[in-house]
Amino acid sequence: MNKVKVKRKRPRQKLRVLVLMHEDLVPPESIEGKTDKEINVWKTEYDVCVTLKEMGHEILPVGVAHDLGVLRDAIFEFKPHITFNLLEEFHGVAVYDQHVVSYLELMKRRYTGCNPRGLMLAHDKALSKKILSFHRVPVPDFAVFEMGRRIRPSSRLRYPMLVKSLTEEGSVGIAQASVVADEEQLRERAEFVHRQLATDAIAEQFIEGRELYVGVLGNRRLETLPVWELTFDKMTEDRHFIATSKVKWDLDYQKKWGIRYDKAKEIPADIEPRLNRICKRAYRALNISGYARMDLRLTPDNELYLLEANPNPQLSYGDEFAESAESAGMSYDELLQRILNLGRSYRAQWQD
Ligand SMILES: Nc1ncnc2c1ncn2[C@@H]1O[C@H](COP(=O)(O)OP(=O)(O)O)[C@@H](O)[C@H]1O
Ligand SMILES: [Mg+2]
Repeated sequence: MNKVKVKRKRPRQKLRVLVLMHEDLVPPESIEGKTDKEINVWKTEYDVCVTLKEMGHEILPVGVAHDLGVLRDAIFEFKPHITFNLLEEFHGVAVYDQHVVSYLELMKRRYTGCNPRGLMLAHDKALSKKILSFHRVPVPDFAVFEMGRRIRPSSRLRYPMLVKSLTEEGSVGIAQASVVADEEQLRERAEFVHRQLATDAIAEQFIEGRELYVGVLGNRRLETLPVWELTFDKMTEDRHFIATSKVKWDLDYQKKWGIRYDKAKEIPADIEPRLNRICKRAYRALNISGYARMDLRLTPDNELYLLEANPNPQLSYGDEFAESAESAGMSYDELLQRILNLGRSYRAQWQD
């Protein structure tokens, strides 16, 4: 699964780049003696740091979890041209990543990836769908079950449904049991989300079909990357085809089921332009900047649904986003440089 980088290139301008990440994910200088499983935990952080260095940039990895003072000191001492934002939570809360980006904006600092408003809209799986339907982006029907309130599924819901956290990322809490066939199962799984993840739960109409990913890059002018697809070499009748947390993170499980992320094959000719249109429209509707990966499903009847928009998606070398960029002729170095450039050219409101 883990792919090793070999290509090197020199950039035009040498930048001081503060690489911001969770303090537990600050990577070691070298991967020597580390197992694949160990590397997998901080692979994105490692790949980005090593590659930026190889490209000739001066980097300072900074890990934060509960204390913004660390970031503030690093900014004043290191005086970065830009912060490469790899942070996905603060105080252990996934949606607090946007506040850290707000902090950077309030300090009038440049950063890569998405602005706070885009993060806020995209990370709420219900609010984003409300906005997206207004903009005619097809999304699954849904219902929200708040924590601390009685779970009363409406009779209007059509099963099967998929129950997940309203705000968590990376398929946290998504397993085979997340697909529910009736009210009782829905109730059980929503309670599980409340109890285990301490967030509200969302139940969505389960969309059967192929799972597609489309990378989008840009602030105002947008570019879509080639369509990527999740496939399983092995599958049994009784299992639902979904990207559970095991599918995404468990290397042994990935081997066992032959889980692959590749360029999508045989997408019907009229679907690809529709896909690109939907992805760009969603990106704009949610006020995303920098780069994002759109998760979609294509049903057997060739209907498209946007499952979610992921601003600041996983960026490790060999992952869907980077592979898809590479198949469009953009090497990993070029991709990171592009992301830096987009961060530097993003027009924040403090500049107006
Ligand atoms: N409504 C749905 N219909 C079918 N599959 C879904 C649905 N919602 C989620 N999934 C499956 O669960 C995975 C993770 O869901 P997603 O909403 O993308 O959450 P996360 O933010 O954790 O990635 C999806 O990639 C897909 O395989
Ligand atoms: Mg997703």
